[in-house]
Amino acid sequence: MLPQKGDPMHCLVNLSYFIVSIAFVHIKIFLHPFSECCGRYACIVAMPGCQQSEDKEIVGVVDAAAMADRHVLKALPGIDEYLYISGMAVVPKYRRQKVATVLLQACDATAIEWGFEYLVLQAYEDDKAARLLYAKAGYVVIAIDPLWFSRLLGRRRKVILAKKVSASVYNKTPSM
Ligand SMILES: CC(C)(COP(=O)(O)OP(=O)(O)OC[C@H]1O[C@@H](n2cnc3c(N)ncnc32)[C@H](O)[C@@H]1OP(=O)(O)O)[C@@H](O)C(=O)NCCC(=O)NCCS
Repeated sequence: MLPQKGDPMHCLVNLSYFIVSIAFVHIKIFLHPFSECCGRYACIVAMPGCQQSEDKEIVGVVDAAAMADRHVLKALPGIDEYLYISGMAVVPKYRRQKVATVLLQACDATAIEWGFEYLVLQAYEDDKAARLLYAKAGYVVIAIDPLWFSRLLGRRRKVILAKKVSASVYNKTPSM
């Protein structure tokens, strides 16, 4: 489980006992032999206090899984899989306190630990909050739904964003 004890993020990000059951459901699905996910999956949660604290409230969550979607790989030549980040969510009361930023830093650390060069995620093109969050975390657009897709199907356009990981994330303390 990331991050390790002694890491600056240790107090904020850890795995809670009640999220384990949710994680098990995810693991069962993502580790299915026919799943596109390549066998590594983590459910990373954020809690407001230290692990020793009485308060066990989960305030944010994100999933990280090994993936190898060929459309994404086409945009990232030279790699055969990447860490796919999804399900980012922070409890409304705790928003704008860098919880999501710290969760993304934990994803960076997970990618390094698991030997991935790139992290990839998706967002709606018009989702200003998510786009700003990911841009600040170093993600750049690598693909976008064609315009006809949204016009024809009447769906919101999605963008695919990627970030090349850097070992320096281990030395980074989240700026509050
Ligand atoms: C998007 C979301 C995950 C952000 O979580 P958060 O913990 O509040 O994000 P952070 O505090 O780490 O924000 C980092 C930066 O992202 C940007 N940002 C985050 N929320 C924003 C908002 N509502 N409006 C504008 N910018 C926002 C800001 O630039 C912010 O830095 P700042 O507060 O110094 O200005 C949270 O609002 C959420 O759970 N939304 C609902 C689920 C969702 O949309 N998930 C993303 C799906 S792709």
